[in-house]
Amino acid sequence: MLDYLYPITQRKIFVNRSRELAHIEHAEKQLLAEHPKNISLFGLRRIGKTLLIKESMRRILTKKQTVPVYMNLEEIVSSPDFFVVKYVGYLAYWFSENGSNPADEYLELTSLISKAGKSGCKSLFDTVLMINTEFGKTFRDHNYLLNLAFNLPEKIAMELDIKMMIFLDEFQVLDILSSSPQVKNPFSLFRNAVQNQNNTAYVIAGSMISKMEQILLSHKEPLFLQFDTTKLEYFTREDTYELTKKLITRNSGNGISKEILEEIYRHSRGHPFYTTALCERIKYYIEEYEHKLNKELVTQAFLFELLSSGGRIHEFCRYMYDISLERARGYGMLKTVLLSLAEHDGMTLSETSRVIGRKPASTSKYLKWLVEVDLIRKKDNRYYFLDPVLCAWVGFTQKEIEIEEVPQKIVLDSLVSKLEEKYLRLSNELGVAKESQIREIMSGFENQEIDRRLFGYKRDTKIKLPEFDMVSDYHSADGQIEIDVLAEGLENWAVEVKWKNKATTIKDVKRFFVKMEKIAEDMPKKKAYQLWFISKNGFTKSALGFCRTNDIMTSSKDDVEEIAKRTR
Ligand SMILES: Nc1ncnc2c1ncn2[C@@H]1O[C@H](COP(=O)(O)OP(=O)(O)OP(=O)(O)O)[C@@H](O)[C@H]1O
Ligand SMILES: [Mg+2]
Repeated sequence: MLDYLYPITQRKIFVNRSRELAHIEHAEKQLLAEHPKNISLFGLRRIGKTLLIKESMRRILTKKQTVPVYMNLEEIVSSPDFFVVKYVGYLAYWFSENGSNPADEYLELTSLISKAGKSGCKSLFDTVLMINTEFGKTFRDHNYLLNLAFNLPEKIAMELDIKMMIFLDEFQVLDILSSSPQVKNPFSLFRNAVQNQNNTAYVIAGSMISKMEQILLSHKEPLFLQFDTTKLEYFTREDTYELTKKLITRNSGNGISKEILEEIYRHSRGHPFYTTALCERIKYYIEEYEHKLNKELVTQAFLFELLSSGGRIHEFCRYMYDISLERARGYGMLKTVLLSLAEHDGMTLSETSRVIGRKPASTSKYLKWLVEVDLIRKKDNRYYFLDPVLCAWVGFTQKEIEIEEVPQKIVLDSLVSKLEEKYLRLSNELGVAKESQIREIMSGFENQEIDRRLFGYKRDTKIKLPEFDMVSDYHSADGQIEIDVLAEGLENWAVEVKWKNKATTIKDVKRFFVKMEKIAEDMPKKKAYQLWFISKNGFTKSALGFCRTNDIMTSSKDDVEEIAKRTR
């Protein structure tokens, strides 16, 4: 079962993601009760979307109540007619074979006809024959073909009295189908087919966050409000430790000290792919060169991974960089902007335009474009790299640094000091991915008790922190309102994070307060939220006054760092 898609070696290293797995499991229950819910998973590249899907498929297959279907649309999207054969082929493959054999014979029309004929499913066979007839015509109707494909799952499910859960990976590439002059909007065709289903549910995943958000969260788009969205975040410290133990040691992780686990987390920042690449390199050094596992070895392995052409992190960063920039005009200038940000992460528009020597209007265009392709993000009018490892990579490699498999100590020493100064310093502080770090901290609250003063209260008593069922960011349906953290459970909290160099003013706090009033109104059941404002550089007096009157909790950077330490 699933041996081709999800080999045993991969299953063994799977950790974490219990929240997301539970979300999908819940969707399966809803489907079995004929109230199907669709889910979208998005997150940065290599954050673990596909592995999560595979693990879900495994669990669904074990329970045998639902038929799971998996397709990576990136592999099958080309022209609409070829896409249709492969889409139908994969449906047929999954319900006939459950992922036990190779899928090849289902993906080509002639052999698919024969497979469909033998499948015992009339709607499948009819559809394949209709596709074949259409293929015989000189003019193929692409919309008709796509409708045949998108409508087929529900037909199969009804005929065979089964439920199907369909996982579509790299969903955003469906867009490519619109390059056919006949197909105006592939997403509306998809929507028309899926909106009236009772026996099929969809889980879609995509790595281009901005693009996925545009497809799913913009009210102008056909898929608006059709999916529950779940964002995959970096691993927590504990999950990273667990993955590290699985990867480096053969037997249950004995023998890796906390200090080493922490050092690996400090470098990989909880990114599962970076953690994997780093641990495998460390293991290689230990086995091939009989190096001792200590902190220096971790740094050496990380630098090799980041800077050598043989490193997997290097290869991945190069791919991200090339893929993201290749479609852009003004390629050279974008590189300059990125390099400047790698040197001074968190610049404003005017600072960036000064550094690159271009007018603010054109600089703004460059920055906007880099935001669209998920390389950087804007927060409080400053621009940051989304991925700090990529930030370090750009900073180093643009200077053409390349190292050997076992670098000489003298080469390493000079690189290490730069790494410490430019990149690891950031990851120690509540640096770049602040909101996701706050979300991580809040997920770990779990009913612990902590000093009230850390939330801005004068009294020297303790507060019992809630245990949340869900902690995520929030975008209103019309895309107008964003909240850094909404946490829900027996208690609901909403959090705003401000990382400016100035103190937070009453205007900032009021804006948050009003935003939350609107959201509470829009929620299906009116919910009460405890508000919490986190500000890097404290608050003005009037801001604090407003917070006290309206029961908004306040914390500074130091407070949050202490909360993190104590709830760990
Ligand atoms: N839950 C996990 N447990 C263990 N390792 C993981 C987990 N998630 C991700 N990884 C590691 O990270 C790698 C990348 O994961 P995966 O391919 O699922 O990411 P993705 O988000 O689908 O990436 P892409 O955007 O490139 O499609 C995996 O091959 C694995 O090594
Ligand atoms: Mg993937």
